[in-house]
Amino acid sequence: MTDRYAVVGHPIAHSQSPRIHRLFAAQTGQDLSYEAILAPLDGFAVTLRRFVAEGGKGLNVTLPFKAEAFILADICSPRATQASAANTLTVGADGRLWGDNTDGVGLVRDLKEALGLTLFERRLLILGAGGAACGILGPLLEEGPRGLVVANRTAARAEALADRFHCLGPVRGTGLAALAGAGPFDLILNATAASLSDAVPDLPPGLVAAHTVCYDLAYGHGPTAFMHWAQQQGAARAEDGLGMLVEQAAVAFELWRGMRPDTAPVRAALRQGAPQAPDADS
Ligand code: ATR
Repeated sequence: MTDRYAVVGHPIAHSQSPRIHRLFAAQTGQDLSYEAILAPLDGFAVTLRRFVAEGGKGLNVTLPFKAEAFILADICSPRATQASAANTLTVGADGRLWGDNTDGVGLVRDLKEALGLTLFERRLLILGAGGAACGILGPLLEEGPRGLVVANRTAARAEALADRFHCLGPVRGTGLAALAGAGPFDLILNATAASLSDAVPDLPPGLVAAHTVCYDLAYGHGPTAFMHWAQQQGAARAEDGLGMLVEQAAVAFELWRGMRPDTAPVRAALRQGAPQAPDADS
């Protein structure tokens, strides 16, 4: 029987997840269906219950429901607990819901395996202190960076986020202006929502050196505003988050189906038809 999976969000029409998972399924010969479900903003729990009652096997959860998915899951993985958010739900044989978060591990796989970067002993800067930053902090700290700075427009949010994660590694939070003199960094990750409105956080000079890699968690048709900024600053590389999107989906697929798909051809297929407007999630 065909196993049923879906991604739930609001909005959802833009989602690349159905395309990615159908490509994974075709590649691995798995008999599954994968659809996009629009849940009302106040109706995620109802949508979830209906999907499970209809025999659904697993869900990806995207904005704005990841925190609610974490709360509704019966059992959560350590990485979902770290992030206080779940982007992947699996329906167990006993009907219980298992919550996981594949965003951070997907990013780390993209950085290390697809882009060939080293994170151990490197100096990292994360811009932003919202849900996107929270989801990647734990897996990045587990890679053993020399230091990780979280910088945010609202400094107090960055400080609070760093406080939550300080037991995992050398992380501190600060405001954007206070970054003056703190650079250069080896890797700068943009986890703000600025790219979605074609803007760049207001950053002081001196953050980028000739070897610095800049990575925008958002992706779109062509370089994002942050990638243009990185190029203007003389960064070695400027990357978008399409690879992270594919890798986080691959980790979810592996959880559900017990096999790891080859992400390279799927990444290439998506590059042929990336969305016109910048997007930041699955
Ligand atoms: P998400 O779940 O996508 O991270 P969020 O929780 O609303 O969304 O967080 C958005 C992040 O982008 C925040 O860090 C926000 O900064 P503030 O906490 O100061 O609001 C950041 N952000 C959004 N637009 C920005 C801009 N134009 N410049 C700098 N930071 C921006």
